[in-house]
Amino acid sequence: MKGIVLAGGRATRLRPLTKITSKQLLPVYNKPMIFYPIQTLINAGIKEILIIIAPDYAGHFLNLLGSGKDFGVRFTYEIQEEPRGLADAFIVGENFIGDDNVAMILGDNIFDDDFSESIKNFNKGAMVFAKKVPDANRYGVIEFDDNHNVLSIVEKPEHPKSDFAMVGLYILDNRASKFAKAVQPSGRGEIEIVDVINSYRERGELKVDFVRGVWEDAGTFDSLLRINNYMADKDRSEKERKENA
Ligand code: G1P
Repeated sequence: MKGIVLAGGRATRLRPLTKITSKQLLPVYNKPMIFYPIQTLINAGIKEILIIIAPDYAGHFLNLLGSGKDFGVRFTYEIQEEPRGLADAFIVGENFIGDDNVAMILGDNIFDDDFSESIKNFNKGAMVFAKKVPDANRYGVIEFDDNHNVLSIVEKPEHPKSDFAMVGLYILDNRASKFAKAVQPSGRGEIEIVDVINSYRERGELKVDFVRGVWEDAGTFDSLLRINNYMADKDRSEKERKENA
């Protein structure tokens, strides 16, 4: 299993913060944001990671992350010239993925959870993760029947059919690149990840698991603040536990 961290885009929603740097380099408590999704992949046992970045601050990512030696893994980089949509990660990453399976994580998705079992047990098809949220219309929304079979996945629906967001971690086999190339741009001019996932669903090859721990898409001021506070609290309680041990 290989890993991709998608850290492209212009993050206009976070301006002026992102006028002089990339969203994924902003601090989340005591670390740059991108450390968290990288660590999620590493904790799940992934050792080869492609980092996809926009041209603007590419040098900063290289300075920060380097070869991956400090993390005990190997980083490769690709530049995404234009923010063409999340599905583009599988096109930009086609050579990197090669014949392997791939876990793609968004550079602004922060989890306090463990995906090593899901990744270890993955064989073929696609696996995505759902989390109940109060504001489903911000996300890809997964509609289930009573037996947790997926009925539909729709990107940012005006009237969501459920409270379950599809989070920004996708485990796919190497058909992902082929399916991504067949996707037509959506109304917002992007090739949408939901269309790639739906290609697997239509073939009966999609599995959904649930995120049990904390998840935040740190792409807005409020969610960024929430996850900063969460990580600060977590760090404090870990320190207290160690002191009292
Ligand atoms: C993206 C995806 C969406 C997903 C979300 C998770 O949205 O398009 O399906 O639920 O990430 O963070 P974006 O944050 O790029 O608008």
